[in-house]
Parts: sequence; structure tokens; C-alpha cells
Amino acid sequence: MTALLEVQNLTVAYGAIEAVRDVSFTVDEGQIVSLIGSNGAGKTTTLRTISGLLRPKSGKILFAGESIDSLEAHVILQRGIAHCPEGRRLFGRMTVEENLQLGAYVRRDTGVEADMNRVYELFPVLGERRHNKAGLFSGGEQQMLAIGRAMMSRPRLLMLDEPSMGLSPIMTQRIFDTIRELQSQGTTILLVEQNALAALALSDHGYVIDLGRTSLDGPGHELLADERVRAAYLGEN
Ligand SMILES: Nc1ncnc2c1ncn2[C@@H]1O[C@H](COP(=O)(O)OP(=O)(O)OP(=O)(O)O)[C@@H](O)[C@H]1O
Ligand SMILES: [Mg+2]
Repeated sequence: MTALLEVQNLTVAYGAIEAVRDVSFTVDEGQIVSLIGSNGAGKTTTLRTISGLLRPKSGKILFAGESIDSLEAHVILQRGIAHCPEGRRLFGRMTVEENLQLGAYVRRDTGVEADMNRVYELFPVLGERRHNKAGLFSGGEQQMLAIGRAMMSRPRLLMLDEPSMGLSPIMTQRIFDTIRELQSQGTTILLVEQNALAALALSDHGYVIDLGRTSLDGPGHELLADERVRAAYLGEN
């Protein structure tokens, strides 16, 4: 397998505080890779740096073999990395359709409508409510729309930050099923989750981030069985 994303010795600071320290991980083409770790571990900071919203203090980020860590965020999106952010960040006063159109803003081709229909196939409820304002939706529907919006840029790599946050167990399952479906359709996924159990069960590979550092990694099912992971993140001891 070839690496689609390589993060090498990444350090990111907010002023004097290093939120991410020397983090390294690889996402191979076609995989689902998850980053797990407790509150404040540096997961969101890592994704925001890959997206070009923050700049590394040191380290390298390679996408499809090319360095992207000095590119502007919209160029990184154009290269094929979409970011579905923590907290969803939809435009609540805009309709489903308008939110999806915004996700396609970097595209110059004519396939936008076909891709919108693809999102509606994936999430029929969004198709039924395409003219409704997003702000009135349930948490699960908003998460579907946030994922759909990210897919509208036709990403090679989709990064999802806490997609199950605040959702019911049934809706969480629905979202995780969708992530697997997107993988089977050819999208590579980088998933950040506090729900370590569900994320690792789905992942080809997982990395544990602890206080800004990668402390442990392995295939998802191996990490699920690892005593240190079970004690720290699955509420067992
Ligand atoms: N804008 C900011 N300014 C200063 N410090 C920040 C900022 N954003 C995050 N931090 C700090 O950086 C560290 C890492 O935060 P980050 O949001 O990346 O963690 P996280 O792993 O995503 O946590 P969570 O699971 O709560 O989402 C934390 O100590 C946090 O307080
Ligand atoms: Mg976070």
C-alpha cells in the first residue's frame, strides 16, 4: 500500500504552549485510520494543521508524496483533503442544498449536481429536506449534512473530527456505517474520536495521542484488545 498522508514529527503550538508534540502517523490509500485520545490530547489541532488552518512549528505533512504544510487551506482542499470539523459548523440559516453547494466551492467542473444526488442517496433524509434550513435539524441530521458537505469537494482523504459527538447510539451506528460505506466507495478516511471502541472497531489502523504525542499504534482490532487502551479509553481497569 502507498501512503496517502504522512505526518512526520509534527509540533504545533498556540503561542508558547505546544498542543501537539512530535506526532507522526501514516494513512495509506483506502484505509480508515483513527486518532484516539482524551480531551485536550491535540487531535483537533492535528486535523486543523493538516487542513492548513494552523501552521506547524516543526515537522512535515506530505499528501500523495508532496509537501503541503505551507499551502493555503483552499489549495489543500483542492488537492483532495476535506475536513468535517468538530461541532459540525454548518450554516444554520442556509438550506441543505446551499450547505452542500458551499462544500463544492473549490470545484470548477460540472459534476456538482450529480454529487449532490449521491449525498441524497447516502442520506435520503437530506434529499427529502433539501430546501429546509439546516439549523432546525437534529444532531444526527446535522452530522449527515456535515459529512455530505465535506464529500462535495470529492476528497481523496476525508477527515472527520468527532462525528459521533452528542449522537444517540443508533445514530452513532448509522454514522459509522456511512464511514465504512464511503471507504468502500474509495475514500480514504482519517477519523478522530473520543468513542474509541466504535472508532477502533472500524479502523484498519489506530494511533493513540496522549498529551500531544503519539504513544501507541497498531491495527484497530489489536488496539481494542490492548490492556493500556482498554484501561485508559474504554472505561475498564
Ligand atoms: N485556540 C487555542 N488557543 C490556545 N490553546 C488551545 C487552542 N485550541 C486548543 N488549545 C489547547 O491545545 C490543546 C489541544 O487541544 P485540541 O483541541 O487539539 O485537543 P483535542 O484532542 O481535540 O480535545 P477534545 O477531545 O476535547 O476535542 C489543549 O490543551 C487545548 O486547551
Ligand atoms: Mg477536538
